[in-house]
Amino acid sequence: MKGIILAGGAGTRLHPVTLAVSKQLLPVYDKPMIYYPLSVLMLADIRDILIISTAEDQPLFQRLLGDGSDLGLRLTYAVQPEPKGLPEAFIIGADHIGGDSVALILGDNIFYGPGMADYLRESRRDLDGCVLFGYHVSDPERYGVGEVDERGRLVSIEEKPTEPRSNRAITGLYLFDNRAVDIAKNLVPSARGELEITDVIRPYQRSGKARVVDLGQGFAWLDTGTHDSLLDAGQYVQVLERRQGVRIACIEEIALRQGFIDPDACHRRGQALPKTGYGQYVMRIAQRAREEAAR
Ligand code: G1P
Repeated sequence: MKGIILAGGAGTRLHPVTLAVSKQLLPVYDKPMIYYPLSVLMLADIRDILIISTAEDQPLFQRLLGDGSDLGLRLTYAVQPEPKGLPEAFIIGADHIGGDSVALILGDNIFYGPGMADYLRESRRDLDGCVLFGYHVSDPERYGVGEVDERGRLVSIEEKPTEPRSNRAITGLYLFDNRAVDIAKNLVPSARGELEITDVIRPYQRSGKARVVDLGQGFAWLDTGTHDSLLDAGQYVQVLERRQGVRIACIEEIALRQGFIDPDACHRRGQALPKTGYGQYVMRIAQRAREEAAR
């Protein structure tokens, strides 16, 4: 399975903060926002990842993440000249996907919760059509909204409906088989003038091949769309990290645990950030892994 992080868009709702820097590079407490979706793909054991951004922002993402080799990843980059909708990711990324299946994650979606890695591993293993992730919200009209039957099959999906049929938002993480590429290529823009992800999902839904995995209570799917929600997300991460002494979305730690890199490579990444608690944490987990390996 290939991965795509869609990090395009002008971030107009966060102006003036995003006038000079991409939204997905803004800090969520102690790390850039894109670390969070990247860590989700890594937890799904996906190593071949395309990052799609605007042309201006591409060098910044490259400066931050490079070719990914020091994390045991293969990162490549592509440009979305204008924000024409999520399905464009499959058109821009068609060569990257090739004949494979694909996980698309939006660069501003933050997921954190118990069993995330298990959710992903199972969904990936059983993929037959597409898998979506549902989340109960109080304001479904802001999102894609899904209705689901008792077997977890998607029954209907609507983009930002004025009268939502359920409270189940369909989050910005999607697993698709290879048919998504052809479906995306044949879409026509909606009344909003954009290609809609719901229109990629609908053919799967009609043939009973769209499954929804609900992210349960205690699971955090955080919004970063407004100044307040961005600050809330940062504070959520801060509270958990300080209280538990862990780091959320620490890409070095995930690379180490997934076996993408060895403890020495992990330690080198930490050493490059010696003045930060983040760097010290990375060195500490590398050292612990060395000791475990020596035992
Ligand atoms: C997009 C999708 C929507 C989804 C949301 C998740 O909306 O179109 O279906 O629920 O992402 O973040 P956007 O936030 O781009 O308006």
